Amino acid sequence: MIIGIPKEIKAGEKRVAMTPQGVDALVSHHHRVLVEEGAGAGSGFSDTEFEKAGATLIKIAGEIWNEADMVVKVKEPQEQEFPFLKPGKILFTYLHLAASEALTRRLLESRIIGMGYETVQEQNGSLPLLRPMSEIAGRASVLAGGMCLEAKYGGRGVLLCGASGVPPAKVVIFGAGVAGANACKVALGMGGRVSIFDIQPERLSYLHDITQGHITTFISNRMTIAEEITDADLVIGAVLIPGAQAPKLVSREMVKRMRPGSVIVDISVDQGGCFETTRPTTHENPTYIEEGVVHYCVANIPGAYPRTSTFALTNATFPYILQIADHGLEKALRENEALRRGLNLIDGEVVCEGVAESIGLNCIENPFNYDR
Ligand SMILES: NC(=O)c1ccc[n+]([C@@H]2O[C@H](COP(=O)([O-])OP(=O)(O)OC[C@H]3O[C@@H](n4cnc5c(N)ncnc54)[C@H](O)[C@@H]3O)[C@@H](O)[C@H]2O)c1
Repeated sequence: MIIGIPKEIKAGEKRVAMTPQGVDALVSHHHRVLVEEGAGAGSGFSDTEFEKAGATLIKIAGEIWNEADMVVKVKEPQEQEFPFLKPGKILFTYLHLAASEALTRRLLESRIIGMGYETVQEQNGSLPLLRPMSEIAGRASVLAGGMCLEAKYGGRGVLLCGASGVPPAKVVIFGAGVAGANACKVALGMGGRVSIFDIQPERLSYLHDITQGHITTFISNRMTIAEEITDADLVIGAVLIPGAQAPKLVSREMVKRMRPGSVIVDISVDQGGCFETTRPTTHENPTYIEEGVVHYCVANIPGAYPRTSTFALTNATFPYILQIADHGLEKALRENEALRRGLNLIDGEVVCEGVAESIGLNCIENPFNYDR
């Protein structure tokens, strides 16, 4: 198969879809890999490293999209890439379509095959291709939140870990999944006082156990959330309903009752966000202040740490990419149920239920007649 790796062009995005090590492994399986010149620079990989791994370097992004059977990327296609989307080609990347009707309709029009990393799902419900980025985003959210608490960003001027004789910051986290649990670990490690909410008691009991009771856990409901955030310094949103829009847990009225200069970091922004006051921001311009509260709502937080993130992403995506490359999409989907859930769009139709529901479109089932 011919696999294309274009340079990411979303603002502030410095990751690349694959490391030279991943390229080398694909080439050893007799696949041809086209890499756009300079694609790895932001993650610290030179063109020479990709060439040594067996990639063919290509100057113009359009040529990669034209020649490749499958384009692997990090972020969803940007406006400038829309003309490159062609029927029947495979696009494997983070799509997050449930939160973007415009992009969904554009991809449907192009009749490209849209595979979303974020909806590849194992039978136990885990999301193996979201996991590494959620791990990094969760950890980084505390660093970003701590920075936003600095006075120069409009924060309350509270040092997350406090000081001797001065209490640490109160950190409230929504979602005890991968991102939330990792935020919890770092916030606790930095000395914060941590409260965490989820709708799954077993997630809370796991975190309560491994932190030996050093955190406070809550079952998520409106009233408790409203009470807990009023005196919080940092509130982190990390909830997910797979393939669907994030539930709005915090209304504007509730944000108004938070203390001026407190901070919201909404990791769930890529699924629409869990605060009514959330709107997506970029690494160039990461924060805004609304109702007196500093908001950090960067949709690609791991992009701030491109080298760590690119290694983590390739580690997770590689086996799935290889399976498609080795067997072709139809056979790979037939054989791998988790990968099958990654199929969002095919032939101008939506195949992913969460996406169809969020956008209000029909969902077709079983496009390749898997059971036959
Ligand atoms: N902004 C970024 O850069 C970035 C990076 C990675 C992941 N994300 C996003 O972070 C979010 C979390 O991802 P994850 O991998 O941790 O998901 P996950 O499935 O591991 O965890 C989500 C948790 O949210 C909980 N939840 C669902 N509804 C809830 C509610 N009403 N109240 C409280 N908890 C609720 C679930 O029970 C689950 O434990 C997703 O939206 C994901 O797309 C964003």
